[in-house]
Amino acid sequence: MLKIRSIKKMQLLLEVARQEKKRIGFVPTMGSLHEGHQSLLRKSKKDNDLSILSIFVNPKQFFANEDFALYPRDEKKDEILAKKEKVDIILYPSIKEMYPDGYKTYVDVEQLSNVLCGESRSGHFRGVATVVAKLLNIVCPDKLYLGQKDAQQAVIIKQMVNDLNFPSKIEVMPTVRENDGLAMSSRNSYLSMKHREEVPVLFKSLKLAKYKILKGETSAGQIIRQIRSNITQNTSGRIDYIECVNAETLQPLRTLTGRVLIAVAVWFGRARLIDNIILRIR
Ligand code: PAF
Repeated sequence: MLKIRSIKKMQLLLEVARQEKKRIGFVPTMGSLHEGHQSLLRKSKKDNDLSILSIFVNPKQFFANEDFALYPRDEKKDEILAKKEKVDIILYPSIKEMYPDGYKTYVDVEQLSNVLCGESRSGHFRGVATVVAKLLNIVCPDKLYLGQKDAQQAVIIKQMVNDLNFPSKIEVMPTVRENDGLAMSSRNSYLSMKHREEVPVLFKSLKLAKYKILKGETSAGQIIRQIRSNITQNTSGRIDYIECVNAETLQPLRTLTGRVLIAVAVWFGRARLIDNIILRIR
């Protein structure tokens, strides 16, 4: 497993790989790897000749009051997991090289970036789209692997890749969960013991919503109310949002029809957790 910190070196190396007609799979991350990332890395290894992992805690997607400084970083543990998933190259770009003095260019995916998480984290997806565009230009992968847990991020990156004619294909892999349903996330490490006991309610509420919809409920309002009461009655979580939206446009729905994304974001102490399910409703 090669570890590369220089963007130029990475580009030269991958140019050679492409001349040799190697298929390149790419998993961009901010490190603090868990089983969710591992499932992406496994798929990348299975589908491609070269599997590339990037680890970069991107300052442009955090804001003044957010957890950039505290975001968990553990290169040693990440490297053990990367090796286990047979990653060929880890790219560790530096902030200085990614955003040198005088850096001025940003990617803004309109409309999709201002809803759901974009409402309370204004500018977050501009930072995400910008860094992913840069990483795609550096790695030029055949395939980019993302997780369904970050559903809005996946929709935005798909739109960007399409709009800006990046040649990479995108594969979105299912959310990986703990035994009690908690979606794997680096931010789960922020949870206190009390909150850790409460958080399985998120997926339980989403599953109950699915059950109600399969039984014939078509009102988004009813589903949102039911999830809200489930969370507020059973936990100390502070709800940021609960929404039923069209899974492609991310626009809110009144009546549940088509491909529906039911997404939640809830604060437990200093951990802001997100989760979602996607249903196809006739
Ligand atoms: O999902 C993440 O870890 C990040 O948002 C990403 C895609 C690596 C961009 O920094």
